[in-house]
Amino acid sequence: MTDLDLTGRKALVTGGAQGLGEGMAHALAAAGATVVIADLQDDLGPKVAESLADSGGSGHGFTHLDTTDDANWESAVAEATGLLGGLDILVNNAGIEITSLLVDLDPAAARKQLEVNLLGTALGIKHAFRTMRPGGAAGHGGVVVNVASVAATIAFPGIGIYSGTKSAVERMTKVAAMEAGKLGYGVRVNCIFPGLVPTAMGAGLANDVAELGLFASPEAAVGAVVELTPAGRLGAVDDMADAVVFLASDASRFVTGAGLPVDGGMGM
Ligand SMILES: NC(=O)c1ccc[n+]([C@@H]2O[C@H](COP(=O)([O-])OP(=O)(O)OC[C@H]3O[C@@H](n4cnc5c(N)ncnc54)[C@H](O)[C@@H]3O)[C@@H](O)[C@H]2O)c1
Repeated sequence: MTDLDLTGRKALVTGGAQGLGEGMAHALAAAGATVVIADLQDDLGPKVAESLADSGGSGHGFTHLDTTDDANWESAVAEATGLLGGLDILVNNAGIEITSLLVDLDPAAARKQLEVNLLGTALGIKHAFRTMRPGGAAGHGGVVVNVASVAATIAFPGIGIYSGTKSAVERMTKVAAMEAGKLGYGVRVNCIFPGLVPTAMGAGLANDVAELGLFASPEAAVGAVVELTPAGRLGAVDDMADAVVFLASDASRFVTGAGLPVDGGMGM
């Protein structure tokens, strides 16, 4: 057993029905955790939850969650905690990206990104703290991993609001870590800054910035990202998933309030 071993740990992964969240859920299961996926997608989510046993363990599950809804968080966390018999790990991964130049800003699209990326993550912290802190339904501390973005650390055109929400996630991560420490919750809170990964969101962004005329084509947009990346490639789902396992595990036991770039060096 290494410090990366998560045997016996119970994890909730938001936005786990596809993309990075799906990969994170599989990596946590492979490391020994039992995982509940929480997502809006009631069709895909349960299928992914069922497939987690292929990576390891049993007893994985799915619960419906709209991360922008406080009452839904309360019921989803209660359901997951009951199903798992506790809660040690929350991965606040659910997020959306709506590409737009600031000069064309649509307030509704901006509010939606703020709601999902910032409020949704904040509500996750709230309900994880209430459940994990002493006296909570799980009650013996734990770990929160928030998913920010390399967009919080660079200036990429076309994602002004999205970048702002992810910068806010970084700052909120630090405040959350401080509150958890001061109040004796026994919860570490960190975030990662993923580089561009060609999930539905990542591929969509490359198309959108080309459509906005910021790059000659989606391929040119991807090429520009790779050019800015010392590691010389795009990110892969597993790159992000392994970083989440590290931050969820005892291997990072003295790490809290940190933001870990997982971007091949793009954001340095
Ligand atoms: N893909 C990238 O290049 C990239 C880079 C940096 C950061 N990120 C971040 O990683 C996270 C995952 O991105 P992805 O590429 O897998 O995106 P994706 O669009 O492929 O998947 C996002 C998932 O979140 C779910 N979701 C969206 N809104 C939700 C809500 N309100 N409640 C519950 N679930 C909701 C969706 O149903 C979907 O399953 C996001 O926070 C994103 O901002 C992605």
